[in-house]
Amino acid sequence: MENFIVSARKYRPATFASVVGQSHITTTLKNAILNDHLAQAFLFCGPRGVGKTTCARILAKTINCHHITSEGEACGECESCVAFQNNASFNIHELDAASNNSVEDIRNLVEQVRYPPQNGKYKIYIIDEVHMLSNAAFNAFLKTLEEPPRYAIFILATTEKHKIIPTILSRCQIYDFNRIQISDIANHLASIAEKEGIKAEPQALHLIAQKADGGLRDALSMFDLIVTFSADNTITYQKTIENLHILDYDYYFRITDCLWQNDLSQTLLIFDEILKKGFDGHLFVIGLAEHWRNLLVSKDTQTIVLLQTADEIKKRYAEQAKNLPLSWLISAMNVLQQVDIQYKNSKNPKLLVEIALMKIAYLQKAIELSQIVQNQNFADDKKKVPTP
Ligand SMILES: Nc1ncnc2c1ncn2[C@@H]1O[C@H](COP(=O)(O)OP(=O)(O)OP(=O)(O)O)[C@@H](O)[C@H]1O
Ligand SMILES: [Mg+2]
Ligand SMILES: [Zn+2]
Repeated sequence: MENFIVSARKYRPATFASVVGQSHITTTLKNAILNDHLAQAFLFCGPRGVGKTTCARILAKTINCHHITSEGEACGECESCVAFQNNASFNIHELDAASNNSVEDIRNLVEQVRYPPQNGKYKIYIIDEVHMLSNAAFNAFLKTLEEPPRYAIFILATTEKHKIIPTILSRCQIYDFNRIQISDIANHLASIAEKEGIKAEPQALHLIAQKADGGLRDALSMFDLIVTFSADNTITYQKTIENLHILDYDYYFRITDCLWQNDLSQTLLIFDEILKKGFDGHLFVIGLAEHWRNLLVSKDTQTIVLLQTADEIKKRYAEQAKNLPLSWLISAMNVLQQVDIQYKNSKNPKLLVEIALMKIAYLQKAIELSQIVQNQNFADDKKKVPTP
């Protein structure tokens, strides 16, 4: 059987141009390379799986390349690039600070830094999870970081910038990596699906992208998982919600319709069905609030860009949003927000949600009633003869 390589490894970008959603970083790095304006210490911060190690490796490869292209990319063909691609480069050292966090480990590293590179211009040290270094290790490292030899470049990476001591921060050029946009992740997955000959429904890919919460590695792992589960090399929406245990958005559309039509019984039955399927009540509340937020932004052509879902679903949102007045959506969201706040402390969270749903089901009536009262008051005021 052919060895299966997980997509996250198979599709690790090899050039700056192929890094998704971090152009503010890749452009700056390319410019620094082209203008020979390279810092000696970098700190890459950001959430998990968004391209920190990837960019560190691309940077390392590029600055040692013998024929850097006019765009600031590595050629991929020279001796140095080939050695790098075969993991045989002596100029790049990676240290995982999560498991090598003692003073001894850092002393070894500092010792190595003293020797210039055998071939190539730079020796690059990538220190991953740098926040895990012990205090003593940090201190042992400071001096080298402050005055490194010309040929040494340090790239520190961390998911927890706040844990890095200020003396280190002030010695590094800091790059903040973004969470990656849902649409960017979905497009990236679509291109991988095409390369792998997998038929994937856009809705399914969007769902994976949403669930990944900005991390591409997580998105790729979920993608692999679903492919593994399906025997026929397809990724469907249905398979995705089953595998990722996501509540089908159809529920949100249905419950919204029921609430708007004052159909309280149906609403409560749907809510019960959701709980019986094993979904968490609090997540349902948050999901429903998000659904209404999506309806709200679909009401205006200016804000519709904020809706990050597959095109087919966008149409469904627009359709449902048409019938719902803004005032109703906002009031309903308000009620849900209260539930969100109170949920954790509630002795009977199911009842809390049910009461909220009851309120929302009769919201329109309440709004109409308050309007009638207001109009009545207004009419009464007008009738009053002003006293001279
Ligand atoms: N911006 C990106 N563009 C393309 N692929 C990406 C990107 N970010 C992550 N990936 C994919 O996820 C994998 C892991 O990314 P990487 O190791 O760079 O993450 P990281 O930011 O270092 O995460 P961690 O904080 O967990 O170390 C890569 O091999 C690649 O397949
Ligand atoms: Mg990393
Ligand atoms: Zn090269």
